[in-house]
Amino acid sequence: MSKNKEIVMSGIRPTGFLHLGNYFGAVKNYVRMQEEYECFFMVADLHSLTTHPDTKGLKQNVHRVLAENIACGLDPNKVALYCQSHIYETSELYLYLNMLAYKGELEKTTTFKDKARLQPDNINAGLLTYPVLQTADIILHRAKYVPVGKDQEQHLEMARNFVKRFNHRYGEVFPAPSAFNFGEELIKVPSLDGSGKMSKSENQYATIYLSDDDELIRTKVKKAKMDSGPKEMNAMKSPEVENIFLLLKLVSSGDTVKKFEEDYNNCTIKYGDLKGQLGADMVKFISPIREKVNSILEDERYLKQVMEQGAEKSRKSAKTTMELVREAIGLKYF
Ligand code: TYM
Repeated sequence: MSKNKEIVMSGIRPTGFLHLGNYFGAVKNYVRMQEEYECFFMVADLHSLTTHPDTKGLKQNVHRVLAENIACGLDPNKVALYCQSHIYETSELYLYLNMLAYKGELEKTTTFKDKARLQPDNINAGLLTYPVLQTADIILHRAKYVPVGKDQEQHLEMARNFVKRFNHRYGEVFPAPSAFNFGEELIKVPSLDGSGKMSKSENQYATIYLSDDDELIRTKVKKAKMDSGPKEMNAMKSPEVENIFLLLKLVSSGDTVKKFEEDYNNCTIKYGDLKGQLGADMVKFISPIREKVNSILEDERYLKQVMEQGAEKSRKSAKTTMELVREAIGLKYF
């Protein structure tokens, strides 16, 4: 890999099938970035243990996330595509960073509060220190850019704070990482029920997965919540309708979006047609990816080779960083 390319790192938890939110918030940027940057992309299997302690389906889920990334266009020969747990240095860096992270700030993290509410019987320390582990993932490669969706913004702010503290206490080792989306605001792909975002493990009927078959995609879109239609010319859109237009902009052509915008503004829009078009364009977008995922999943030997190759590239970078870290902290006694 080239020495002077800027470094990029990101990850996805193997907690379920990938959906349009993961694609447009993260993977689409990974694919674009692989051409210009030195990229490290991983399956965050350790993070998944904070919420999914039952590991029966883990192997299958890890394989699927890898296959989905590759089917979306990620090239394991261009990037390091690896599994978080294969890089032991991550856990060591996580431990050092834990000494720089304070209980108060961790307890205030939105994702911690949300997850604690969802699993009151399992508010484990891993859940609390989740952003610390995420920071270790990122700075292990001294990455500068982190392509993620809007929901990860706070974690990236925390990563910058931890980096500042480390550099202040031990000397400049790490660049400050920032959340990245090609020249734009970070993206939040909304769910089809008009509230919240698409998610791997919640509101499954309002989320479109890359694994959904054509019929299911059309049915989900058809059932999307709408209002009773515009009452006057150029009316403001309700949040539900706004969401549908946002999704249309992601998968449909500019002309299609323009036509429905005009129909909405002059009150001739038929929501049935809008949903029909959106369903058809989603099917057109997703079905080739789904087919590719299925064929990649059949080849376990290939996936093993991808993981080994990715781990090797990633370990090399991790080892260099950890030498600097141990030295900076003062853990060298001879
Ligand atoms: P995860 O697995 O929840 O999501 C993976 C990526 O998909 C994005 N995403 C979305 N973007 C837009 N709209 C949505 N509805 C939507 N849902 C998910 C997420 O922002 C993310 O980019 N903590 C991370 C995993 C992680 C990580 C890292 C990320 C572990 N270590 C280091 C970056 C760097 C997570 O839970 O992602």
